[in-house]
Amino acid sequence: MLFDRVKPLDAILLTAQRKSLHRTLGAFQLTMLGIGGVIGTGIFVLTSEAAQKAGPGMVVSFLIAGFVCAVAALCYSELASMVPVSGSAYTYTYAVVGELLAWMVGWALILEYAVGASAVAVGWSNHAVGLLQGLGITVPPTFSNADALMAKVQLAFGAQATPDLMTAMRVGGYVNLPAVVVVGLVTWLLIVGTTESARVNAVLVAIKIVALTAFIALTLPVMNAEHFTPFAPTGASGMFGAAASIFFAYVGFDAVSTAAEETKNPQRNVPIGLIASLLICTIFYIAVACGAIGAIGAQPLTSATGALLAPGSAEMAGRCATVVASGALEPLVCSREALVHVLDTLNWHGIGRLVGLAAVLALPSVVLIMMFGQTRVFFTMARDGLLPERLASVHPRYRTPHVVTLVTGAAAMTAAAFLPVGKLADYSNSGTLFAFLMVAVSVLALRKIDPSRHRPFRTPLVWLVAPLSICGCLVLYMSLPLTAILVLPGWGAIGLVVYFFYSRARSHVGRGAIEVAEPDAYQGTEPSVPGTRS
Ligand code: ALA
Repeated sequence: MLFDRVKPLDAILLTAQRKSLHRTLGAFQLTMLGIGGVIGTGIFVLTSEAAQKAGPGMVVSFLIAGFVCAVAALCYSELASMVPVSGSAYTYTYAVVGELLAWMVGWALILEYAVGASAVAVGWSNHAVGLLQGLGITVPPTFSNADALMAKVQLAFGAQATPDLMTAMRVGGYVNLPAVVVVGLVTWLLIVGTTESARVNAVLVAIKIVALTAFIALTLPVMNAEHFTPFAPTGASGMFGAAASIFFAYVGFDAVSTAAEETKNPQRNVPIGLIASLLICTIFYIAVACGAIGAIGAQPLTSATGALLAPGSAEMAGRCATVVASGALEPLVCSREALVHVLDTLNWHGIGRLVGLAAVLALPSVVLIMMFGQTRVFFTMARDGLLPERLASVHPRYRTPHVVTLVTGAAAMTAAAFLPVGKLADYSNSGTLFAFLMVAVSVLALRKIDPSRHRPFRTPLVWLVAPLSICGCLVLYMSLPLTAILVLPGWGAIGLVVYFFYSRARSHVGRGAIEVAEPDAYQGTEPSVPGTRS
């Protein structure tokens, strides 16, 4: 009884046909869209955290995370080519494994998108603060991070008052205001209906590619092989732990599948866009990681007692402050702007500043893509009757779903204000990994249930690739820090309460309305995916 509500694929396709959005996108624009959504805080900031977890072994972590995303993307491609409609993983699972699991996927996507957006915003804040510092304007730590607040909370919960924690209390801050400001700005842009044009997206992608290429060109020639030993100071578990966190750097390629309805020949172009964008990013990431390690080293930092410190923790912040105060060079693992820091250490200050500027210019678009993804998922869930229509009501003047955008913005602002980037990325990853896993399960289930349906793109070696994707997602999920592992079931439990007390009774499919009508409020108002309009 629980898993009986499946929305027939034909009904989904019919709804999509009726909407007949203008199909303008080709493989190239989709690839640009993918790269636009992928390159962001992960590589610009979380490289430091990966180094703290794995040391030079983070190169392997980048490969592991890239591999898991590649097999997941092959599964995504089969479904995206068969069901080229909005809602991404939520819609696919609705058609295959039913409403309850689709609801759970939609619910987990809130973690991916809203929490992910706040992680990117904190990464932006780090670069904005650094850039202002370079111009002689200091943003006081009180308002540029929440390390002191975190230390206070830890102490209140009985943590030992180590010297590192006390230093964090002294030098750390209480709220990350720049991150709040950038989320607020993006929220406002989405409400007034600004959606990034394909041209703006292409320019921002070019800026990011130029910045990463400059980084690689300046660091690879000065690589020192000694910096790669010891290669795996934290062992295999460290490398998998770093892979689970750095996975965030690859998230966003699924934005391509949300644009399927606006794509010419989506059956051919969506798989190309998904796989090409991922491949290009993976090559850049491996080269950047090698450059960073080879140039200045990437050994993890330990506490005064020799214990490995958790990246992003208050103790780590305190320890880093102590190291820098001693006059030593700031290690890579301490930097809040990893790539800028490497270039600074190599005395390429001017180029470092330009790389920082590239991040400041390009990261808000990643926040925008993620926040948009969130509103799109809410929107589709409301279209299916699982969320209140009022929540997704449309602004009379701007014709945008302003209520849901405001709610998303408020949640993302709160998270960005008080949590460190690494924690936010880990929480986001736990939701994303669940969604990716369900996509792989759906591909296999659909091959069994409906083997003769036309599949414009077939996942190659599906009985190997999809199980690999499932196992990869599980391994990465289990390699996350404990709090991030617990976030998914905790968040899922809240989701189940909402489903059984609200959504189940109101579901259109549950009421027998298989040909899902769009609520009047949405007719013709669904905004274009950012980075797609000409
Ligand atoms: N992959 C995106 C980033 O790293 C989310 O910012």
